[in-house]
Amino acid sequence: MTPPEDPNRVIVFDTTLRDGEQSPGISLNTQEKLEIAQQLARLGVDVIEAGFPITSPGDFEAVQEISRTVEGPVIAGLARTHVADIDAAWNAVRDAARPRIHTFISTSDIHIQYQLQTTREDVMGQARAAVAHAKQYLDDVEFSPMDATRADVEFTAEVCKIAIDEGATTINIPDTVGYTMPHEFTAYLTKLYELVPALHDVVLSVHCHDDLGLAVANSFAGLLAGARQVECAINGIGERAGNASLEEIVMLLHTRQADIGLRTGAVTREIARTSRLVSRLTGYPVQPNKAVVGRNAFAHESGIHQDGVLKERTTYEIMEATTVGLDANSIVLGKHSGRHALQQALAQLGFDVSGQTLNTAFKRFKEIADKKKQVTAMDLEALVTDELREEIPGYQLEWFEVEASSRRPPHATVGIRGPEGEELTGSFTGDGPIDAIFHAINTATGTEVKLREFRVDAVTGGQDALGETSVVLEVAGMTGSGQGVSTDILEAAGRAYTRALSNALRQRTVAAEAELATAAVPETVRAP
Ligand code: KIV
Ligand code: ZN
Repeated sequence: MTPPEDPNRVIVFDTTLRDGEQSPGISLNTQEKLEIAQQLARLGVDVIEAGFPITSPGDFEAVQEISRTVEGPVIAGLARTHVADIDAAWNAVRDAARPRIHTFISTSDIHIQYQLQTTREDVMGQARAAVAHAKQYLDDVEFSPMDATRADVEFTAEVCKIAIDEGATTINIPDTVGYTMPHEFTAYLTKLYELVPALHDVVLSVHCHDDLGLAVANSFAGLLAGARQVECAINGIGERAGNASLEEIVMLLHTRQADIGLRTGAVTREIARTSRLVSRLTGYPVQPNKAVVGRNAFAHESGIHQDGVLKERTTYEIMEATTVGLDANSIVLGKHSGRHALQQALAQLGFDVSGQTLNTAFKRFKEIADKKKQVTAMDLEALVTDELREEIPGYQLEWFEVEASSRRPPHATVGIRGPEGEELTGSFTGDGPIDAIFHAINTATGTEVKLREFRVDAVTGGQDALGETSVVLEVAGMTGSGQGVSTDILEAAGRAYTRALSNALRQRTVAAEAELATAAVPETVRAP
């Protein structure tokens, strides 16, 4: 990617699907990653880091699918400096209109000595070879000296020089463990510019983690010091405490543009929706007081504040809710709304739905509208995410019966449709109705499952709100997550559970196939 002509234009590099997906308990399947990538494109991010292709066949497949389908942003694949990593990244991104390989190696002595167990000379050699190898395939190559902020700046500068000599077009400085402070990061980058004048000819990028809650502040310091690419993730998800939050950085530059003078190409009205989609599919809730996208970010509780806002919005609001897309609840449908009204409402939300998909959506909409007076945009969005996604092959909850009472333990029976279309049933007496349903599903499918997380949320306010459930579970060491939406919490929970189970089993099959394929390759040609 050539640096933008406008020196004040900041490249937004989204790593929700790579660093974000490395958060504990998140396991998105290809279709879910694709959905998020399409939404990121609508949000107008410049680069999507779609995954780390060498790490699993599932990751490879997702990056490849995103490269083939998503139009607009550059699609990047992550790679260590190993030849096999770079080859896998290239094969995964090669079909993108604008592919990028992002390769990295640590420059801190802690990492070099204890993790890589090698020498500084070897790190320089690996960086050189990796960038040169990637450059054989494509022009757009990003290089990151990992743990740079805890590394000797002189040595990091040497390695960056080598990467630029070999043709790296972006140099990304990661604060891998979220250790630096804004003034320190400014000084570090200023020194780097001094030591590596060629840094002015490439894009300088920053990638900050949030271990001390400074990811956004450090990223901002990086931009003020001259960086023009910022790596971030929706809702700030990522390793440990997460990455810099995309929505906070974008809205900071947008809200204070007159003072900062930098701008992004992000379509701010897509922010809220992107945040909800990522939260829904990852099962990671957004804290109510989270800046920009939290439920309370635009709510005013105190009487004095409410009074002020009613008289003049700007008394207590520095941003308008509509700027981040929080006016979506203006769409309201009811049980008398027809197919055409539904199609138009979905189109307004950005979902192009017709034919059989529209029929399915309409059937489900009618079921919900029968139970709920008003179906809002938020309901429709939840419904579309739940219903219109292709079911991954696996188990489906067909029906359930639960006997619940405070006098005896609840008992559940479930009917499940298996991957080959077979009908399975199972029963269980559990601690609570949901526990009984989950165990009845285990009995029907004959699987041993560890439940890791279970969450219930209401899509909107009100007694008749749609319930949204999220399940993370583990089967034979494989994690799977699933979501379900319904006016009935038990049904939503059962759906989420069978989806999570199918996801975990699918991952187990993919891993077993990959193991078989590796076993078939002679020892001498295997990747290091
Ligand atoms: O935090 C980090 O250092 C990373 C690199 C791979 C850029 O995620
Ligand atoms: Zn990171």
